[in-house]
Amino acid sequence: METTLVLVKPDGVQRGRIGSIIARFEAKGLKLVGLKLMQPERALLEQHYAVHAERPFYGSLLKFMSAGPVAALALEGEGAIGVVRTLVGPTNGAEAAPGTIRGDYGMSKSFNLIHASDGAETAASELALWFGEGTLDYDLNSLGWVNDPEA
Ligand code: CMP
Repeated sequence: METTLVLVKPDGVQRGRIGSIIARFEAKGLKLVGLKLMQPERALLEQHYAVHAERPFYGSLLKFMSAGPVAALALEGEGAIGVVRTLVGPTNGAEAAPGTIRGDYGMSKSFNLIHASDGAETAASELALWFGEGTLDYDLNSLGWVNDPEA
């Protein structure tokens, strides 16, 4: 079982896409174990995007991500990190395939609506950053019909 971090970025929030993005993850069979709307502090964004600190777009990325509220989601499921990345699609919405979130909703490489952790280590550190208080442990009864217990 894996847990991964998803952020609906300020463009996704302002364009009214929080609900439709969450609906895709719910419909897929992922379990929502964390959900909050927040105006991220610059220090949080600096930590989250530290790996991009030397990239030419780093300044504009932080400005964009600070421009309004962000919805943070923690999603759990078997292979959740890869499954979520597949649903999200590649960075550039103009090139992302239809059926992916970025492919259906986006036109831009920078204003790309959503962030998703790209691996197990990243997911652990990003969840610690955005959900330092922890995520929620509860039974979601429909999951008995999502994953085959004998597979
Ligand atoms: P994200 O998945 O959050 O990871 C890094 C972000 O940087 C990426 O989504 C984009 O929003 C942004 N980004 C990546 N490449 C570029 C680029 N070439 N120009 C501007 N922004 C970019």
